[in-house]
Parts: sequence; C-alpha cells; structure tokens
Amino acid sequence: MIDHKKNSSKKELPTFFASCPRGLEELLEKEICNQSITDTYLKNGGVLFKSSYTKALRVLLTSRIASRVHEQIAQFTIQKEKDIYLQGIKINWTKIFKVEQTFKINTLLDRDSSDRFKNSLILSQILKDSIADQFRSLKFERPNVDTKKADISLLLRIEAVNHQDEFSTYIFLDLSGEPLSNRGYRKTRFEAPLRENLAAGIVMHTDWQPENETFVDSMCGSGTLLIEAALIKGDIPPSYLKIINYTEKKIKPWAFLYHSKFLGDLRIQTEFKNLIHLLYTQSRNNLVKFKNTKLYGLDIDPRALEITRENILNSRLPESLFELKKIDATMALSPADGPGVVVCNPPYGERMNEDLEHLQTLYHEYGENLKKNWKNYKAYIFTGIPELRKNISLQTSKRIQLYNGNIECRLFRYNLF
Ligand SMILES: C[S@@+](CC[C@H](N)C(=O)[O-])C[C@H]1O[C@@H](n2cnc3c(N)ncnc32)[C@H](O)[C@@H]1O
Repeated sequence: MIDHKKNSSKKELPTFFASCPRGLEELLEKEICNQSITDTYLKNGGVLFKSSYTKALRVLLTSRIASRVHEQIAQFTIQKEKDIYLQGIKINWTKIFKVEQTFKINTLLDRDSSDRFKNSLILSQILKDSIADQFRSLKFERPNVDTKKADISLLLRIEAVNHQDEFSTYIFLDLSGEPLSNRGYRKTRFEAPLRENLAAGIVMHTDWQPENETFVDSMCGSGTLLIEAALIKGDIPPSYLKIINYTEKKIKPWAFLYHSKFLGDLRIQTEFKNLIHLLYTQSRNNLVKFKNTKLYGLDIDPRALEITRENILNSRLPESLFELKKIDATMALSPADGPGVVVCNPPYGERMNEDLEHLQTLYHEYGENLKKNWKNYKAYIFTGIPELRKNISLQTSKRIQLYNGNIECRLFRYNLF
C-alpha cells in the first residue's frame, strides 16, 4: 500500500510529475515506489511524487511506463486567464534557464477546465509573455520561442477544483527531452505500432512469469511487445540504448543535462555519473545473459516479420532469443508447451465499416483455435474495438481498461485448459 502521508523532512523535497498513457497510472506508481519514493499522488495520465532530484532521474532512466518526467516549477490557483501572467512573473525564470536558450510551452487542460478556458494556445501565450517580460526587465533581452526543438520545454497543466470557479495550475519543466517511450530500437514505421511504454504496460499486466513461462505474440507486427517482454525478462533498463550511447559516444539525449539546475550542482552530477555507470554495467551484462529461453513472434504478413527482425537487430538483444514465423494465427499451434502467455494486438481496421466483418471472423476463428491448440496458456487480446470480444466463445477472466492515445482499449484475458 502506498503511503500518502506527509512528513516534515520531506517538505523540502522537490515535486515531480511522471506522465504515462492513461490506464497505466497505478503501474507507474508502483515503479516509482520501487525507487523507495513514498510520497506519491495519482493523477489522470500520470503520478506526482516528491523525491530527491537524483531519485527522479532514476525514475526517468528506469521506468518502463513513464512517457516523460517533469520537475514542478510552481503550483498555484487561478480564476481567470490573466492570473497565469500574475503568477508567472513571480517565478525566478533566470534561475531556471539562460536568455540564450530557446523555450516552448504546451498547455494541458482537463475536461472541466477546457469547458471554461477553451483555447490552450492563448494560455501558453500568456505564460510566455510573463517569462519574456521578466527576462526583458532583468537582462534587457528575452529568450526565443522554438515550438519544434526547444532547449527548455514547459508544461502548463490546469485542473478544475471541485464545484468552484477555481483551477489548480501547475508549471512543469520537462526533464526527458524526446519521449521516454522512444527507446531507439524502432526505426522503420509499421502500421499501427504500439508505443513502447504501452507495450511494456501490457506485458506487465499479463501474469507472465519470465523465468519459466513461454511468451508468444501471435500477431507481432513490428515486434514491440516481444522486445519489451525481452527487456523485462532480462532486467534491462528501458533507456539502455540511450545509456550505452551516452557512455560510449557521449551522445546527450536527456533535456535535464542542459538545465541550469543540473549544470550548477556538482553533487547531482556526481550522483548521476554513479547512476549511469551502474545502469550501463547492468545493461551491458544483462544483454548477454539470456540462456535457453525463447520468445516467439508470429504474423501472417512477411513485411511485419522483416521489420520485427530489423527492430531486434537495432535492439542489440541476442537474435537467438527470438523465433519468428509467418503463419495465420487462426491456425497456428502453440510453438512450445505451456505454461505460457500468448498475447496479441489484432488489426484495428482502419476503414471500420469495410473491415468489421473480416475482424469479427478473425476474432471468432482466433478464439476457436486458442481453445483447440493452446492448452495451458493464458491468452491476452489487446483491442481498440472491445465489442469484438463477443465473437470469441471463451469466458473472459479479466478485463483491463487502457488507452492507446485517445482510443479507449481493453486488455482481455482468457484461461485455456
Ligand atoms: C495492429 S498490428 C500489431 C502491432 C504490434 N503490436 C506492434 O506494436 O508493432 C496487427 C498485426 O496483426 C497481423 N495479423 C492480422 N491478421 C493476422 C492473422 N490472421 N494471423 C497472424 N497475424 C495477423 C497483421 O499483419 C499486423 O502485423
């Protein structure tokens, strides 16, 4: 159970916000608590937590679920748009970044606050004005905005407070840079791929026991679920490719490396150096540790298997860990004896009306084949069209609501005896 109690020594700790795909907040909170962080608070689409700066960097480097990790710069309440300016100008921005650095602001409104404020761009603009005016008054010039590749990326998050004309407002500084879900092993795009952190969340939601259970993705597409499962099995940090490139090639992928806070604090830099060294050694060692185990990827489309092969190569995981096969999942036999987990993310049907009939048949035949040929497996289907479950004549033993972007999805579980 997570302890939400405050204690006086923790009051000094900074607050961070880790964002994630909706539906995965509790898994993310568990990951954060595994870093001995006890002060956490669940939000829609993420988790607020208090911790040392170094522990927050640990979350950034080791969370399989987080999309980004942000440091909280300010929190206040507003009633009107102009309150953002009045509060924004009180923040000491010159301590947070330099006039030569570019910045951008994204605004995120929850449902009730978007009814009230409508235009998030205007809110970003108001905060931007307060920053520009403060720099001008202190430094006689202002930093430039770059909406594409800014050095400093700010998030303005506004949430309605129950039954009042007041809105909780947070300003966060993104520590991540590119999204943490971009692990770096996917170079060629294949149709409807899952984001890597959503794929990791799906694997973590299955009851897969990596030490003694087979893992199969029966419609593997570009292989995201397979590669995330392998990283979990091998206890390899999700940011391992970035950690290896940082250590061996001095490539600096994370935004915090350019922030005044990091650059001005030798203690944080030393702690980060130790942390990176630890994670680098773990990554390098564990990448070659896999023994006698296989993960199976099936797909009907040879192009999908080609891209999976390419992604496995990019991932630097041992090729011998995977076995790929071109086969129709509605006829496939289980590639190894159970117990095991067979997961799949069937096509969504881009052109819904045309494809619905085909998908109904696919789900039905897939369910029939599971019954016949996959004894001792736990089967999972991740779908953006939950109604298609009706075409499977197996009893659902668990259903989990998750979001793929804005699409409400379900992960269904079936026990096969
Ligand atoms: C939505 S994509 C899977 C995406 C994958 N999870 C990823 O992250 O890349 C669906 C995949 O199902 C495959 N597929 C469709 N019908 C199939 C069938 N009968 N048997 C096996 N694979 C099938 C498609 O070729 C496609 O690669």
